[in-house]
Amino acid sequence: MVFDFSEFSASYFARRPFFVPKVNSGILDALEGLPFLHSLESLLDRWPGSVQVHLPDLRDEASSLETDAERALSFYAQGMGLLFNDAHVLSPLLQGWLQSIRQEIGLSALTYGRNLIYATPDGQGTATHFDQNINFVLQLRGIKRWTIAPNTQLKNPMTRHTLGLPVDPEMLTYLEAPMPTQMPPGAESFELRPGSLLYVPRGCWHSTEAEGDALALNFTFTAPTWIDLVTAALRGRLISSSDWRDTADLSEEKFDGLLQDLIQDLPSWRARDILAVTEVSGDQ
Ligand SMILES: [Fe+2]
Repeated sequence: MVFDFSEFSASYFARRPFFVPKVNSGILDALEGLPFLHSLESLLDRWPGSVQVHLPDLRDEASSLETDAERALSFYAQGMGLLFNDAHVLSPLLQGWLQSIRQEIGLSALTYGRNLIYATPDGQGTATHFDQNINFVLQLRGIKRWTIAPNTQLKNPMTRHTLGLPVDPEMLTYLEAPMPTQMPPGAESFELRPGSLLYVPRGCWHSTEAEGDALALNFTFTAPTWIDLVTAALRGRLISSSDWRDTADLSEEKFDGLLQDLIQDLPSWRARDILAVTEVSGDQ
């Protein structure tokens, strides 16, 4: 197990960051057994897919390009950060850790869990932003400083947002206060060194900066919301009806009839029945 959830559960449920200066030696030894994590060079030698390059204008994933492992090093040498997505495909060990973390913290089987590897040159990092994901960062090489602040502008974002960029139209519908112009007050700082682990709660503001060349392994979880579960259940229910499958011809009378049928059906809906479907299908 990558962390002891009993130590961490209070922070998790309070949506507070949780920092472990050095994880246990069993985890570090297991990571040493994965040659692609030893250095950026060994990762590039073994990486089969494309690499995301973060362009210097925004210091953010919102401004990036895709390249291959061969060309990635020259971007890195020019001071640009690299992101290796879905790194767990290279390692059954990482896949097992992703699954055990997901189960330990009680996320749905429909969760998209993956490993991301960030290679960040000295002095670089990410601009202030928040994500819709739940994230655990395990520092492999170098030092990375994280600054994390609570998000008082909105709870439970459905998408990522970077400070200073336009707010997406859907997010505007649930934004509770104006977006800040700089890292909001109440920020905490964490210095991650090799072997450090940081839990970054969903939705909190954060920025990073590397001191020396830094390599970090992220365990990132995009978990379904209640909206996702009920929407999946609703579609599963309605699709058995040829009337609901009919092409919408914009007749209000017909639509009202269908909604009345649905309203009569809803009182019999139970969480247990829906979860029985989502959690079984998701684990396959
Ligand atoms: Fe982030």
